[in-house]
Amino acid sequence: RKEGFPHFMLKEIHEQPRVINDTIAGFGRDYEMGAEMLHSGDTIFVTAAGTSYHASMYFALLTAKLTGRKVIPFISSEYESYIHSASSGDVLLAVSQSGETIDTLMALRAFKALGCKVVSLTNVIGSVISRESDQAVYMKAGPEIGVAATKTFTTQLTALTWLALLIAQRGGRLDAEGIKSTRERIKALPDLVEEVIMKYEGWAKGMSRLIAAKSSAYYLSRGLGLPIALEGALKLKEVAYVHAEGYPAGESKHGPIALVERGFPVVFVSVEKSLEKKLLGNIEEMKARGAFTIGIIPQGSELGARLDEKVVIPSRDEVLLPILEIIPLQLLAYYTAVEKGVDPDKPRNLAKTVTVE
Ligand code: F6R
Repeated sequence: RKEGFPHFMLKEIHEQPRVINDTIAGFGRDYEMGAEMLHSGDTIFVTAAGTSYHASMYFALLTAKLTGRKVIPFISSEYESYIHSASSGDVLLAVSQSGETIDTLMALRAFKALGCKVVSLTNVIGSVISRESDQAVYMKAGPEIGVAATKTFTTQLTALTWLALLIAQRGGRLDAEGIKSTRERIKALPDLVEEVIMKYEGWAKGMSRLIAAKSSAYYLSRGLGLPIALEGALKLKEVAYVHAEGYPAGESKHGPIALVERGFPVVFVSVEKSLEKKLLGNIEEMKARGAFTIGIIPQGSELGARLDEKVVIPSRDEVLLPILEIIPLQLLAYYTAVEKGVDPDKPRNLAKTVTVE
């Protein structure tokens, strides 16, 4: 059932245009009710593990930016620390593609016991997290066989962007016209994802030869790009066994830069134009230490000229960029695993669904 692809991971990367389209077509009443519940809470907490946590972090950054609301993302296995500052008027969004991750389920139960309303975003109808939430919202990624999350991540980002916009509408930050035009912009995603895959699959294959020979890499970004940098690093480490750290670019000089020497690969992810100048400063700092710099950048970005390698995403729309920018990084991780001769579908020590705390 790999339909001609050598691995499920590659098949699932290629499925993204279609399943993002399905997810957009499925924006319905569950999203409206979920947004209403999230809007009605005092503080919005968002919880998840792994890749789903990166999607949750993105939701928190975007929602805070669009609405001015207090949105607190946390890693679900750390819920005992976050429950102290929650109260019954708050609301929790639990994000889990499988809907079965025990850490996320435990966080959900702790918030429910406090009297909080819980909204869930999962990919599996009838999963335990969806059943135990007050309002279940679904992406439509279809079953994901590869252990590394790919299509479930981009559909999560698509779904969470829509939820953030619906919350902004309820907060009076976006009128009906604004919502309509943003939905039209989101509809451009499937074609753009296809274009990125077509343009950069060959690039990823070529670059994988260089990365496969490295023992370490950094993925740096600022703002809305940070969750994408974190996810890019997680993909590389889990499927290709190359040590990779995602880090806020500004924080990199408070320690991580000590490891950088000639040829050390540093991937920069740029989303927000307003942060590019600062990101450029970080690129220069890394170059001065001899780093090999790779940038995933929007069309028209001025960063291109200063990078050793660039992937130019055919869009400048900050609502769409994060979803497009993870695609070349998924491909890079995949091809690096293939280059090293390891099976990207079954990384050692990892399970698709983690059911022990
Ligand atoms: C990484 C990956 C894991 C999961 C995490 C949460 O590629 O797949 O990090 O994202 O175990 O799983 P769900 O989303 O099912 O709760």
